[in-house]
Order: sequence, then structure tokens, then C-alpha cells
Amino acid sequence: MTFTPIAPTTYVPPSLVAKDTYVIHQVQPALGQPLFVYLNSMVILGQQPVIVDTGTPANREQWLKDVFSLVEPNDVRWIYLSHDDVDHTGNLDQAMEACPNAQLVCNWAMIERHTNCFDFPLERCRWVMDGESFDIGDRTLHAFRPPVFDSPTTRGLFDPSTGVFWAVDTFATPLPDPAMGIADLDPDFWEFGMALFALGAVSPWLSMLDTTKYGRFVDTVQNLDITTVAACHSPVIEGPYIERAFTRIRQLPTIDPPMLPDQSVLDQIIAATAHPTA
Ligand SMILES: [Fe+2]
Ligand SMILES: [Fe+2]
Repeated sequence: MTFTPIAPTTYVPPSLVAKDTYVIHQVQPALGQPLFVYLNSMVILGQQPVIVDTGTPANREQWLKDVFSLVEPNDVRWIYLSHDDVDHTGNLDQAMEACPNAQLVCNWAMIERHTNCFDFPLERCRWVMDGESFDIGDRTLHAFRPPVFDSPTTRGLFDPSTGVFWAVDTFATPLPDPAMGIADLDPDFWEFGMALFALGAVSPWLSMLDTTKYGRFVDTVQNLDITTVAACHSPVIEGPYIERAFTRIRQLPTIDPPMLPDQSVLDQIIAATAHPTA
């Protein structure tokens, strides 16, 4: 049986978050809760346009439309993969095929881990490690591992010309309404949401960390001159909210891991969605 993912029913068009920089959105309802999760990616225009992560298979048609409404496929020069999770690599094949002039910015570990489902064209690959940079004509982009991540291949992306940091899975949070920005969220809910996702779904090992060492690592990212945080699973974070978001991320190793839904919750979800039999 072939699995056909269900296309999203809520559409949020691409949003301009800084000069030359658009976030491509997908909204996914949370399982069993009246909450929503973003599955974002990004496009940086400019002299050598960059696609940052490639969305999901469920949103393929709309993702391709959204990306190529902003940039001609032949003009795309770089496809930057933050890591090898399916919500970031979902349309990698399609993007590489549509953009013959693009190089794929990845790394060795990504190829080792992801070769089982993607045939990496090595001659089109450029390996960029944590702490390294690459030049895209009118600016240099810097790859940095963000504080919260769920694959060892993860590198965020900082554009010093705009102050935008692509934080990948860091700052992930559910939302009560996909139309809400960070400023619309109840501050307690936002703190809860970031802890729930970070400790429960992205980086459960945070509770094992030495808080001083971890704090120094968070410093290295926070000390970048970030004016806009764009992330896969969060609305854009700007202004004073950047400081608050980093403060929460810094606290994570000291927070008790959240209780996650267990089999009894799955039973309730199934019972609530079961169709009565004739
Ligand atoms: Fe991930
Ligand atoms: Fe993700």
C-alpha cells in the first residue's frame, strides 16, 4: 500500500521576515489537541538565491508553488539542508531536480545518515560544518549549531547582512491558533510550549547537561548579532522576544521533563475519532 500524506488544510502564504528573506509556511494540526505546529522553511534572495530546508512531502505541491513564486528555479544557486529530518528534507529530490544550477549545502554525516533515501549527487554537494561559512555573492552565510537540535548533523544559518538566524528546531512551540505571532501568545503558554517540544520531542538529553557548559554554548549563539529568529516550528521571533526565547532555552536543563501522552491518551484519541460501524 502506498502512503499518501494528507495535504495541509490551513494555508499561510510566504512571509517577508527581513530584507531578501522569506519564510515558507506549513501548518500541521497537533495530534489530539486543539493546537497547531508550524513546519517552516526559508528562502534567501539576493545575488545567489538560497533555499533553506525543503519542507515536507505532505505539503509538496504548495511548497514548490510558494518557493518558485519567489525565485525562478534556474536562479537558485544553493539548497541548504539544516539536517536530515523528513520535515526539512521532504522535497529535496524535487528541489534538486527543479534547480539544476543549485549546489547542495550538506555535510558528511548527513550523507552517511540519509543516503538510504536520497541519492546525493556528490559533484553538486558542498560540505559545510558547524562553524564554517560559505559565500553567496553579495554576503557570507555562517553555519552554527543551535542550542536545541534533534540530529547530530544540525547547523543553523546566520546571515549577518540581515541579522536573520535560521534556528532549525530550536524555539519550537505549539500554537493555539496558527494566526498567532509570538506577541499574541500568553507568556506562560509560550514557555510551556518551548519546554514541551524541546524536552519532549527534540532534545530530551538537555536534562543531562552541565548547565555551565551548556550556558556557554547558548552564549555563542546568542552573541551573534541576531535581529530576527526564523525557525522551522515557531512564528518569527523579533525584538525583546529574542532575549526571552534564549532565556527559556538556557533554563531547559533545569526543568523537569514534561509528562508525554501515553497509550491511554492514544486510546482516547482513537475512541474520539472512531467511526461507528453499521
Ligand atoms: Fe529535526
Ligand atoms: Fe524539524
